[in-house]
Parts: sequence; C-alpha cells; structure tokens
Amino acid sequence: MLVSSKGLLLAAQQEGYAVGAFNTNNLEITHAIFRAAVAQRAPVLLQLSSGAITYAGIQFLSQIVRTGASSADVPAALHLDHGPDFDTVMLCLRHGFTSIMRDASKLPFDENVAEIRKVVGAAHAVGVPVEAELGRLVGVEDHVVVSEREQAMTDPDEAAAFVEATGCDFLAVSIGNAHGFYKGEPNLDFDRLQAIRDRVDVPLVLHGASGIPDHQIRTAIELGICKINIDTEIRYAFAQSVRRTLAEQPEQIDPRKILGPAIDGMQAVVERKIELFGSKGRA
Ligand code: G3H
Ligand code: ZN
Repeated sequence: MLVSSKGLLLAAQQEGYAVGAFNTNNLEITHAIFRAAVAQRAPVLLQLSSGAITYAGIQFLSQIVRTGASSADVPAALHLDHGPDFDTVMLCLRHGFTSIMRDASKLPFDENVAEIRKVVGAAHAVGVPVEAELGRLVGVEDHVVVSEREQAMTDPDEAAAFVEATGCDFLAVSIGNAHGFYKGEPNLDFDRLQAIRDRVDVPLVLHGASGIPDHQIRTAIELGICKINIDTEIRYAFAQSVRRTLAEQPEQIDPRKILGPAIDGMQAVVERKIELFGSKGRA
C-alpha cells in the first residue's frame, strides 16, 4: 500500500535499521523493487528523479508505482529524488507523491534554508514529508553533477542549524559517499556522522550507497542512517543481464525474453540490500 515515508523512517530510526530507497525509471525496475519488497516483507521507497520523470512521463511512471503499491501488501512510499526546483516539487505533490526531496545543496547555506522552508511549507500543508541535503556529494546522479573540487562534507553544527531553521523531516548527509561507481574503496567519515547524529534528531539519509562495502553500511546504520539510496547497482544488474541475454541469443527480439531476466537480476540486488539494511520482515 502507498504510505508516507515519514512513518517508515521514524520506525526505522526507533528500531535501528534503514529503509531502502530504490530509483526507478520504468515498469521493469518497478516490478523488481516491488517483488523484492514483497519477498522480503520489507517497507520500501520507490524514488523518481527529474530525469526519470522526463524519460517516462510523470503520469505514466507515478501510476506504475501507484499500481504496484496498491497490489503489494507491504508499505511503499512514492518519493521525488533530488528535486531540482520548486515547480517539480509542486508537480509531484499534485501527482500524489508521498515523500519529497528538494535538493538545494548547491546553493549557499542561507539560500538552501530559504528554499527548503518554502518547500516544507507547501509539502507539509498536504501532509507530505521533506528530505533536504546539506553538503555536496561528488559524482553524477542524473542531472546532479558535482566535481571533486565542488564536493563538500556536511558540517555537524551547520546541520543542526539547518534542520532547526528549515523544519525538514530528513537530512541527507555528505560524509565521503559519492554518486555512481566509486574510484577505489569508499571511506565514510564515521566521526562526522556521529557528530551530526549527536546534534540532529531527524532521520539521516545516505545517498550514493551503491558500492559501499557491507560493513560500512552496517556501521552507518548503527550511527543513525535510516534511509539508503541505491541506483547504480540496479542499473548495472539491468545492463549486465541484457548484455548477457543478447550475447547468448543474438537473434532474440522478444522484449519479454530480453527484459524478463533483467527483472530477476535487479530483484536479486534489491533483496540483498533489504537484508543488509535490516528492513527484512519489518513490513
Ligand atoms: O539519489 C540516488 C542515489 O543517491 C543513488 O546513488 O547511484 O550511487 O547508488 P547510487
Ligand atoms: Zn542521490
């Protein structure tokens, strides 16, 4: 069933696990996420970036997720990922999204605060929670492109002031995590995460979680991460499966025979993450 992300993340915070937030762009990825969530009895977030919305159409894609949610007997939230502007937020609210991220992290602190306050005002008026980001993750996630020079870690004192000033419901942190494939072994700054946790009481969000070793994910959850975003590993499973199928069956033209195995491969990735995050059996 379709629910707000607020209850899902507060329950995760209380019980010490994290809810997976998986990006979708189409029917096949959405099927994979719901099948995994149902198989693992896990709450889940399905998140759409503005790139996904442009690609598939907001009506189509949000209805696909909504249809999946209404037939799955686990709680699922429909989330805007890295909302690029206020208009996109309003569009998603009008389409019944149950969770919003407005990413104004590239703006100076005061402008980020002002923008998130505006979004919180609009979203809370219709009962929808808001995720905001402070600090900047290096890497590429759809239209969010941040070079190593522009990367910025979240400052714990600023994080406290930011949450207080904006009234945001969840905070995405930059602690050495990165979007896309990691170059070398990621190395999360757990002292920084602990310091943020000590000063901020809303659920914390880890973006760019594809490729972070399991033991670091477990430590991040112990230190207060309640929502974990995964996109790249799902894309990789999809692409690998399609390549394999077409290599083995070069004459194959039936989309179901090409994409069906890809759904299975993506489902396996999502199920493994759900177990790792501790959200298995929480639905
Ligand atoms: O917002 C989406 C994510 O942060 C996904 O990051 O592609 O590195 O898994 P990823
Ligand atoms: Zn992200």
